[in-house]
Amino acid sequence: MRDVYIVSAVRSPVGRRNGYLREWKAPELLGAVLDEVVARIDLDPNLIEDVVNGTVYQVGEQGFTLARSGVFASKFPDHVSGTSVNRQCGSSLTAIQLAHGMVASNTMDIVIASGCELMSKYPIGSDMGGTLPDGRPQGDCYGQFYIDRVKGKIYNQAQAAQAIAENWGVTKEMCDEFAVASHQNAHKATESGYFKNEIMPVKGLDKEGNEIVMEQDETIRPDTSLEKLAGLNPVLGTEWITAGISSPVTDGASAVVLMSGEKVKELNLTPLARIVANAVVGSDPVLMLTGPLVATPKVLDKAGLKMDDIDIFEVNEAFAPIPLAWVKELDAPMDKLNVNGGAMALGHPVGNSGCRLTVTAINELKRRGAKRALVTLCTGGAMAPATIFESV
Ligand SMILES: CC(C)(COP(=O)(O)OP(=O)(O)OC[C@H]1O[C@@H](n2cnc3c(N)ncnc32)[C@H](O)[C@@H]1OP(=O)(O)O)[C@@H](O)C(=O)NCCC(=O)NCCS
Repeated sequence: MRDVYIVSAVRSPVGRRNGYLREWKAPELLGAVLDEVVARIDLDPNLIEDVVNGTVYQVGEQGFTLARSGVFASKFPDHVSGTSVNRQCGSSLTAIQLAHGMVASNTMDIVIASGCELMSKYPIGSDMGGTLPDGRPQGDCYGQFYIDRVKGKIYNQAQAAQAIAENWGVTKEMCDEFAVASHQNAHKATESGYFKNEIMPVKGLDKEGNEIVMEQDETIRPDTSLEKLAGLNPVLGTEWITAGISSPVTDGASAVVLMSGEKVKELNLTPLARIVANAVVGSDPVLMLTGPLVATPKVLDKAGLKMDDIDIFEVNEAFAPIPLAWVKELDAPMDKLNVNGGAMALGHPVGNSGCRLTVTAINELKRRGAKRALVTLCTGGAMAPATIFESV
């Protein structure tokens, strides 16, 4: 296995539902991010061998093979190929893991991994229960086999978060405090310019439809408070999970360039990070979102590292109880968790999030002169990828 480096990393700002990014077409947003990630290191796009892109709702603009239509919308030459992967909310971390394998195995030298999801246009469930071109129903991806597997206990994602909170002793008060901190940390990071390096400014539309240049994430609520959160109603058939402790519906894209050490040298580039280890798990299908609790020890074990060896953790805030249960399960330090805010504040464009968290983690390692970051996400279908990155 060869060492694999990330030499460039960029993301669009995250747009709220029907917000600044509402007029973007998925291939064009992905294409813009692809162009930017190579432009930042002056890399000749002719050298790219493949684009592995994570998207969950692979229909409409996000259908066909979004990685390939993203290439068509970019300045890349025709010979750059593309493929789309779907591991639910872990899709673009899986894209990074697959791209890592392609380079580490000496099959390819330069591969881009990316993520793109426009949830404003393609909300959760967009690839289920629709109609085929000839009018027949698409069919259901769940069946008796699934009902049997979960012993008839079918939770939606918010209900799973509620059940996890109960199992791990996570309270509503803990979740509200964590959500306020997420917004405050994201606000501080934005105001201090911590995200400037990683965000590529993109054109957007304000509420009135005027064209603007969008340089910041649109979902951060610096004025949120425990009082405001206490006033929100429960969602999706739960007892106390509210919009305030959930990741909001959002749009965004991101990309990283992975390269072999030989190519890095040949092209005289300065790597940002090395991939230390990858893991993926399937977890309890009833609780659905506990994957990070299992994937974290697994990836640490593969790397021969301990929790103490990690400087920052990005554990996706799909819902507040997930990272909080992760903290309890692994006795993890809160001050290393989602240090610049998480998905409750920064949004969770599902297929984009693994790559977005990676871009943010690598950037933060550099900014604070720290060594290692661990990124992991819970996913629909009860899975979780986890990857450790080391600053170089
Ligand atoms: C939870 C969910 C159903 C809530 O949907 P919603 O009610 O439309 O939520 P919104 O984010 O639009 O918020 C509704 C209102 O709640 C209030 N609110 C939300 N978050 C708030 C916060 N942190 N502070 C104060 N008020 C807040 C606001 O009044 C907001 O309205 P506004 O955006 O006009 O200000 C939706 O965000 C969701 O499905 N999230 C999870 C997505 C998901 O499952 N992803 C995959 C993970 S497995």
